[in-house]
Amino acid sequence: MEELDIVILAAGKGTRMRSQTPKVLHTLAGKPMVQHVLDTATGLCPSRTHVVIGHGADQLREALVDYPVKFAVQAEQKGTGHAVAQALPQLGSGKVLVLYGDVPLIHRDSLAALLAQVDDQHMGLLTVTLEDPAGYGRIVRNSEGEAVAIVEQKDASQEQLAITECNTGIMAMTSEQLKRWMPRLSADNTQGEYYLTDVIAMAESDGVTVCTAQPSTAIEVEGVNNRAQMARLERAYQGQIVEKLMEQGVALADPARLDVRGSLTCGHDVFIDVGCVFEGEVELGEGVRIGPYCVIKNSTIGAESSVDSHSVIDNTVAAGLNQIGPFARLRPGTRLAVKAKVGNFVETKNADVGEGSKINHLSYVGDARLGRGVNVGAGTITCNYDGANKHFTDIGDNAFIGSNTALVAPVAVGKGATIGAGSTIAKDVTDYALAVTRGRQLEKSDWQRPLKHHD
Ligand code: UD1
Ligand code: CA
Repeated sequence: MEELDIVILAAGKGTRMRSQTPKVLHTLAGKPMVQHVLDTATGLCPSRTHVVIGHGADQLREALVDYPVKFAVQAEQKGTGHAVAQALPQLGSGKVLVLYGDVPLIHRDSLAALLAQVDDQHMGLLTVTLEDPAGYGRIVRNSEGEAVAIVEQKDASQEQLAITECNTGIMAMTSEQLKRWMPRLSADNTQGEYYLTDVIAMAESDGVTVCTAQPSTAIEVEGVNNRAQMARLERAYQGQIVEKLMEQGVALADPARLDVRGSLTCGHDVFIDVGCVFEGEVELGEGVRIGPYCVIKNSTIGAESSVDSHSVIDNTVAAGLNQIGPFARLRPGTRLAVKAKVGNFVETKNADVGEGSKINHLSYVGDARLGRGVNVGAGTITCNYDGANKHFTDIGDNAFIGSNTALVAPVAVGKGATIGAGSTIAKDVTDYALAVTRGRQLEKSDWQRPLKHHD
């Protein structure tokens, strides 16, 4: 297969974001913009991907440590042409595609269409027609309708400013063409920059035809320069996600009040109420209902479960037919067997909760295993931490833990055992036994309250 080099420009400062974070590291749907571009680029199976870095170079290197990319450093930002030139020595001998780290929604199909047109006699340019072309480079066409130049807004004549066909910045050509044209760039323009866009006029003079293509939607080529544009792209992206969810049969109380920062997979007849946030990989089984204002991260919620309002669930697997919340906090390592219930103001962590077991109110269950049919009374705490180490609590099938019990781990409660309310259990409890540690109730019938002195 022919070689493909993808060059992603990401050296700009992004002054208008007014941020310490380099622009391309600002997140869209929980993921830095430049990673969206890289993930799309990966879909084209490039031979190499180059990221041109400058401002915030160290932060970018760190953020992209897991990506197999080559960095090209542009120490001074002297324009888009100058930026591409920094990657030139690293390019192979096939095709080159130039992308932008701050244009995150570009679609693979639009890029593939552009690349398909490239050969020794042709280069590809992605353009977009905008009602308001302010700020964009304008596409100048000759009488035959061929694109022959790009004129930047700041260099354009009155006549050229009226052109609504704009340069998206995204272009593709052969490596050989690019290597021929780059040394010919000059900074002889209003901004004193080396414009990549000048290659269009060079193509024209070299007899290379500029083939233009348009993205299927304008949002694909929208760039981010400020927070308002960032927010607009976020909504547009979320809009695409909810459209897909609804097509798959998910009922959303309000498609505008849902955020997916990762991937959300749903079975049929899932209902999601307003204000929920899904992060990482989340799976919701058939018929699952999610109440308002829940945050669910890297978790699987099995079929016919119900998660009531304001629950926060992280790295949890719920098998199905579970009842969670309202106001439940399920922390990493929580595993609920079928029909298990975790109610309001209950926190769980690294806990296996057996079939049909209930932790209904105001409890902390951490580093624990609960068998089947266990009932944990309100206010029960597993004291899993001794100040130095974490210890385990094991509770057998059908045990009944009275309210306000402290289980001082390591400790085991046998199956069918009963713990009296208010107990502090520091020793193992035998199967079917009753354990109570609270003081006996004392009653004085001749008791009199002290009286207030009067002088
Ligand atoms: C550029 C195009 C313009 C197009 C517009 C689309 C040029 C000369 N102009 O203008 O025709 O309509 O994009 O959004 O190409 N960058 C570097 N190093 C630099 C300069 C820029 O890496 O020295 C990067 C920036 O980080 C950014 C991208 O290149 O990701 C575009 O740069 P920007 O300054 O925003 O170009 P525009 O003036 O918007
Ligand atoms: Ca720009």
